Amino acid sequence: MSDLAPILEAVQVNVRAGERVLLRNASLSLAEGQILGLIGPSGAGKSTLLRSLNRLNDLHPGLRVSGDVRLRGASLYAPSTDVNAMRARIGMLFQQPVIFPASIEENVLFGAKRLRPIKRDAQIALVESALKEAALWEEVRDRLRQPALTLSVGQQQRLCLGRILAVQPEVILMDEPTSALDPRSTEAIEELLLRLKAKIGIVIVTHNIAQARRVADQIACVCVREGAGELVEQGNADAVLCCPQTPEAQKYLLAS
Ligand SMILES: Nc1ncnc2c1ncn2[C@@H]1O[C@H](COP(=O)(O)OP(=O)(O)OP(=O)(O)O)[C@@H](O)[C@H]1O
Ligand SMILES: [Mg+2]
Repeated sequence: MSDLAPILEAVQVNVRAGERVLLRNASLSLAEGQILGLIGPSGAGKSTLLRSLNRLNDLHPGLRVSGDVRLRGASLYAPSTDVNAMRARIGMLFQQPVIFPASIEENVLFGAKRLRPIKRDAQIALVESALKEAALWEEVRDRLRQPALTLSVGQQQRLCLGRILAVQPEVILMDEPTSALDPRSTEAIEELLLRLKAKIGIVIVTHNIAQARRVADQIACVCVREGAGELVEQGNADAVLCCPQTPEAQKYLLAS
């Protein structure tokens, strides 16, 4: 792992569904200025691990999480944690864009307005800055009041990123954020990630090894071992992708 100070750390995270262990003893660390790629076979537990990094598994009543996750050293699972405030600091981008049936502008402001009241002038400025940061401003500046659902899927995904950026998160978790997108939209998102990583920590689940190679600094590989998902290998992206050390990661990468 990297020597840089961690922004986000998972410490021996276990996730169970009843008697079944979905994820066993997963520990990882996201360093400042880096992108961590999560790879591994379908069903191994990548999304389950990602969802435990901002307590989204809490919303699945059948799942039990143990271990800890720390954001800049503070436990997310401590009883005193304000979960809504924490989720504003750790945003999440899903495979399919989550668009509300409202205008482009309202979609950008949705999270930010729930956190604090924002005066109209500041709203206008925030919409512009978030959409510029998400590389969508030029395409939508003349239609901010139009329904967001009229945008293409690639534009919708950048809109979701704009909504996340409007709350100024410290980390963004992404679960296969480009797998529903065409190559040009994928390229646009990847360029954005490389630009954002200097100030926002990024964890990205991807099935696309070429994408992992293009964007990730560190790689963690989740595979099923003895019936449960485990982080079988993690380290520098070049090293893991070139020369995996465990049979599970070798098998996965050979087949990908
Ligand atoms: N809420 C749940 N209750 C019970 N089992 C679950 C739940 N969510 C996920 N699982 C199981 O946990 C395992 C890991 O699922 P997960 O979605 O994390 O895999 P994944 O690596 O993200 O796969 P994919 O690449 O297909 O998205 C699977 O066997 C899945 O069926
Ligand atoms: Mg998944």
